[in-house]
Amino acid sequence: MSDRHTLPSRPAWEADFPQERLETEHVTRREFAKFLVVVSGGMTVGSAVIAVKDDLVPQAAIAAEGTRICAVADVPVGGTKAFVLPGTTHPAIVVRPDADTFRVFEQKCTHLSCAVFYAPDKDHIVCPCHNGGFDARTGQVLYGPPPRPLRQFAVEVRGDDLVLVGEVARPAHSHSANEADDPLDGAPACAPPRA
Ligand code: FES
Repeated sequence: MSDRHTLPSRPAWEADFPQERLETEHVTRREFAKFLVVVSGGMTVGSAVIAVKDDLVPQAAIAAEGTRICAVADVPVGGTKAFVLPGTTHPAIVVRPDADTFRVFEQKCTHLSCAVFYAPDKDHIVCPCHNGGFDARTGQVLYGPPPRPLRQFAVEVRGDDLVLVGEVARPAHSHSANEADDPLDGAPACAPPRA
């Protein structure tokens, strides 16, 4: 008798798990639909958490008045300079629409926290995620889904430096720039240089 006749026709593991390889790789339509439901459900919950977080969690306080942000020369006329709000991890931008004007906003959309950027041609701050737009003078919402104005900070030019003065207070009802008679509309964000 030769060894050839004693060898099993299939390995033991194949006998124990008889599924064909193609079957194991096959994803049914139902499984794929389940996967999509789980993923989209997760994304919906994540978006909802981000949307309500800012309402539930108080804004981080910034460092004391008088903190230097950058040199005036660091901000190009018609451009912006990004920085981190002192004492926090929050990104912010200085907007310089002309040589003497500086405005500072938190660089986080009030809708779902995407980074916003300055559009000098329109003098808007825009959010690319869902086409949100803010007034670059006041941070008020101009269009799109953002529910609140951008957080804005007052700054001063002191010598060669741009210095943070404090946060611009928002009235409690301030949700949209579409509202008429916005008391902040046109308010200066940057005090004139000190002598
Ligand atoms: S995250 Fe900015 S418009 Fe949605």
